[in-house]
Amino acid sequence: MLYKRMPIEIESPEEFGYDKVLYNLSESSVTDLKMSDLQLSLDNLELSYVPHKGNFEFRQAIANEFNLQHPDNVLLTNGAAGALFIVNTALLTAADHLVIVRPNYATNIEVPRAICCDISFIDLAFEEGWRLDPRKIAEAIRPNTKLISITTPHNPTGMLMTQAEIDAVVHIAEQHNIFLLVDETYRDACFKTPYPIIATRSSQVISVASLSKAYGLPGLRMGWLITQNEVLMELFLAAKEMIYISNSALDEAVACQFYLRKEKFIPHISRKCLKNFEILQTWLTKETRVEAILPEGGVVCFLRMKQDLQVDTNRFYHLLLHEYKTMVGPGHWFDMPDTYLRVGFGYTTADVFEKGLECISKAMDKSLS
Ligand SMILES: Cc1ncc(COP(=O)(O)O)c(C=O)c1O
Repeated sequence: MLYKRMPIEIESPEEFGYDKVLYNLSESSVTDLKMSDLQLSLDNLELSYVPHKGNFEFRQAIANEFNLQHPDNVLLTNGAAGALFIVNTALLTAADHLVIVRPNYATNIEVPRAICCDISFIDLAFEEGWRLDPRKIAEAIRPNTKLISITTPHNPTGMLMTQAEIDAVVHIAEQHNIFLLVDETYRDACFKTPYPIIATRSSQVISVASLSKAYGLPGLRMGWLITQNEVLMELFLAAKEMIYISNSALDEAVACQFYLRKEKFIPHISRKCLKNFEILQTWLTKETRVEAILPEGGVVCFLRMKQDLQVDTNRFYHLLLHEYKTMVGPGHWFDMPDTYLRVGFGYTTADVFEKGLECISKAMDKSLS
C-alpha cells in the first residue's frame, strides 16, 4: 500500500478547525447530533470485546430494514470509509484492474490507487446531467477486471442512478463474474432512495452505508457492508479482524440504541434539509455566474462556475475561507478542476446556509478578472 493523505482530509473542517469557520457549507452530512439528543442508557454496558461481525441486535435491525435473509449478511465497520477500505484491500492487488466512476468520494479512488491497481475511470459530465452510462462500464471491462465501483446517490453530484441503470450494471458484473461495490452511504440522506439496497440484487454485489451522513453521526464511526456472498463475507471479516478485531463496544451500543429509534429523528432532519434545498434553488436563480444540476439524492450539490468567466480560483477559495469564513468543497477534493465546488445543504441552519451562499457570491465578485 502506498499511503498518501488526501486533500479532502488535509483540508477538512475538522482539521482546519470548526471554530475558524462561520458558514460551513463543506459538510456532506446532516447536522451532527449530540449525545444529549440520543437519550441513551449505557451504565450497564460491559466494555468487553464484542462479536467481531458486530452487535447482533443492530445487524438484525439493518437486516430487517433492508429485507436481508440473515443478519450475517451485514458486517459492522468503522464508518463507510472502513467498509470501503476492507472491500478494496480484500479484493484487489496491484495485478488487478477496476472500473471506477469519477468524480467520487476520494477514498473510493485513492484506496485502489494506493494498492497500485490498474484503474479505468468512467468520467461523469455536467453536460450529461452527471448520468452514468452503463455502456461505458461494459466497454471498460478487461480480462483482469476484478471490481466495478460505483456510488449512488453520488457524491459530489447528488446523482441518483435509476433502477434500469442499476440493473444494467449488475448484469455486467454477473456476466463477467466481476464484483460490484456500491457505495450507498447517502441512500437515506434527505431524499429516500426508491429501490432496495443493491446487495439484495446479486451475490456479486457489496453495498456500503453508514450512520454518518443521513443521521448526523459521523463521529460515531459506525458503518456497515452488506453482501449475500458467504465466501466474500468471511474474507471481509478476516480483513476486519486483522485491522481492528471488532468495532468499539461503546460505539456499537450507541449506534444500536439510536438505530432502533431513528424514525423519531427523521422528520426534523428532512424538514431542515428540504428548507435549505429551497434556499439553494432560490440563490441559484439569482446567482447566474454558477450553474448546477440539482441533486436527486444526498445533501450536496456540485456547482460549476460558468465556463466563459475568468475566475481566479485560488483567490476565490482563499477569500471565501479566510475573509468570509465560509468553507465549501473545492473541485480538487474530487479529482476535478476548482471551477467546480460542492455545497452541502444538510448541515447548517437555514440562516447560516443563506449567509454562506451570499459569501460565495461576494468572493466571486472579488475574484473575476
Ligand atoms: C460516498 C461516501 N462514502 C463514504 C464516506 C465515508 O463516510 P463515513 O463517515 O461513514 O466513513 C463518505 C464521506 O464523505 C462519502 O461521501
